[in-house]
Amino acid sequence: MEKKLFIANWKSHKSNQQTTDFLSYLKDKINDYDLSDKEIIIAPPFTQLSYCKKFIEDNSLPVNLSSQNVSSFPEGAYTGEINAGQVKEYAQYVIVGHSERRKYLHESDTDIENKIREAREFGLKIIQCIQDENSVIHSGADIIAYEPPTAIGTGNPDNPEHISEVFKTIAEQNPNIILLYGGSVNPENIKSFLQVKNLSGFLIGGASLDAEEFLALL
Ligand code: PGA
Repeated sequence: MEKKLFIANWKSHKSNQQTTDFLSYLKDKINDYDLSDKEIIIAPPFTQLSYCKKFIEDNSLPVNLSSQNVSSFPEGAYTGEINAGQVKEYAQYVIVGHSERRKYLHESDTDIENKIREAREFGLKIIQCIQDENSVIHSGADIIAYEPPTAIGTGNPDNPEHISEVFKTIAEQNPNIILLYGGSVNPENIKSFLQVKNLSGFLIGGASLDAEEFLALL
């Protein structure tokens, strides 16, 4: 059975204590959920990746990890950068091309292409965010997360009919790609997206920060 992906994108949130609280809650409640058709992936900030990995392993939690970004450079003299080999020590996935990075960090398609090249070299699974059906889909991306910027953090998600149209356009050109939706997904509206053909899961920001709310999405 194909599992639906539930990716928690914590963005620039969570201290060590807040991470502990989230994971402890998850540990206590996770067995109440049927996860046979679901995969949970947490994308914490880099500072919490190592701790999350240890907590997940120590408590045998059914959770995989992603980074929210990766360096477009290999190992070397790149102050402040975290390269794909370093990410791979902690995470199975990497998110690239989020519209917040394009907007605030001025990331370009060339940067994203380089990040994908680096991530592939270390066998990370690549979740590329796209903003609309005209966005460049880079070869090497394993998963596409369609996230219209007007839907991110606004409480105004795209509607299932339009998401279906966008997915159709993408799938015509990229037949085997895994398609996710993201942008103001919450426990109240999540069911409405299940009518979208070819939907393989969600990239969730705000609603993934609170453990109870995140579990409600499952
Ligand atoms: P949101 O963010 O769920 O808070 O809209 C989604 C994202 O940017 O990944």
